[in-house]
Amino acid sequence: MSASVITLKTKENFSQDLIIQQPPSGVCLQGKIRIPGDKSISHRALMLGAIAHGETEIQGLLLGEDPCSTAACFQAMGANISELNPNSVRVTGIGLGNLQEPVDVLNAGNSGTTLRLMLGLLASHPDNFFTVTGDSSLRSRPMSRVVKPLQQMGAEIWGCKGNSLAPLAIRGTSLKPIHYHSPIASAQVKSCILLAGLMTEGETTVTEPALSRDHSERMLQAFGANLRNDPETNSVTISGGTQLYGQKVVVPGDISSAAFWLVAAAIVPGSEVIIENVGVNSTRTGVLEALEMMGADINKENEREVAGEPVADLRVRYSHLKSCVIAGDIIPRLIDEIPVLAVAAVFAAGKTVIKDAAELRVKESDRITVMVQQLNQMGAKITELDDGMEITGGTPLKGTDVDSYTDHRIAMSLAVAALNAEGKTTIHRAEAASISYPDFTNTLEQICV
Ligand code: S3P
Repeated sequence: MSASVITLKTKENFSQDLIIQQPPSGVCLQGKIRIPGDKSISHRALMLGAIAHGETEIQGLLLGEDPCSTAACFQAMGANISELNPNSVRVTGIGLGNLQEPVDVLNAGNSGTTLRLMLGLLASHPDNFFTVTGDSSLRSRPMSRVVKPLQQMGAEIWGCKGNSLAPLAIRGTSLKPIHYHSPIASAQVKSCILLAGLMTEGETTVTEPALSRDHSERMLQAFGANLRNDPETNSVTISGGTQLYGQKVVVPGDISSAAFWLVAAAIVPGSEVIIENVGVNSTRTGVLEALEMMGADINKENEREVAGEPVADLRVRYSHLKSCVIAGDIIPRLIDEIPVLAVAAVFAAGKTVIKDAAELRVKESDRITVMVQQLNQMGAKITELDDGMEITGGTPLKGTDVDSYTDHRIAMSLAVAALNAEGKTTIHRAEAASISYPDFTNTLEQICV
């Protein structure tokens, strides 16, 4: 696509408008691309590297704002982290139990993963005092889901609104092991408790109602933690006190970032895109299953295992989509992809129902309300449900002004919708994409023809 058709305009307040102007003949997507490193794995590699003994090398780290927040927090607590670049980052760990008391507030920025996982480590570091905060979105996101189980372990944590919101203050202390039955399938909750369990004598177990992403379990085991899974009950148990040792981590491409191109190529006639090196861990591939239910033409090629995580290249071609129901245990395996799956549903024949996804309301924005409002503004027919949405597909979209609400996944999902909308779409506050995908607009320009 010519540069005049995709424009990024920086405004006086540094926010950016992404303008997508549809030419009369439309666009299609063609080419072979690589996507940035997996955000969840990048956070974990930095954290485990920081608390392990010896050196960790990370290849393929995501250079988005969220992992940069994690790196800054752990540097402030004594870890030595080389300059961040996607080829190789070296982390010299300080060893289990040796996080230093930072001289200032730890700032997790926009990143729920940074804040929630880190809390498990801080709460279990005796005698140290920590304060943690984040940006206005993170300060409004629920922290009780990790504060409460940590308090059951004996943690001392105080925060706003009855200890449920950041900023939070933590006095590290020796914790006692628990068996926590989490009411929600959340990898952040599970990982927080496992990280607290790492420093706690005895066995700490987390049971969740459905399996959430298991990157923490895989990486903790690779670093030497004593951990066992019980897949029958969705439980994982860690025995505390085992030293971790630095490893080489190879971060695969993020399937949550690949999802934008999977949907874009599936809905824009004439498209064919190959996305190389995508992490296809089965706790993350709900998006592939949902798109297959909708009749998308996606092939997994060159399947392999890289540093303990399954990886493949994904080839996606345009096809006629049909509606489906997305609900139940698949939800935690595609939770971050629901905004862009809603865009796919707008172009699918019939009524798509997404339910059991109330968690979307407490992400970087209320992703149910925001997606329904913004897509309806473009002409979609979507009804908001308490825990999801009902999307009547097949109504053409018209370009208009929409807003990301500073949520990275909303910004990119709306850009995908704009590729199939008539006329000009302006996405306000599109700079939010840099939280997880700083190169999003460049790749968009590269594959639109
Ligand atoms: C993440 C877990 C998920 C996901 C988030 C990243 C992680 O959150 O939405 O983007 O890296 O553990 P929840 O644990 O809140 O479901």
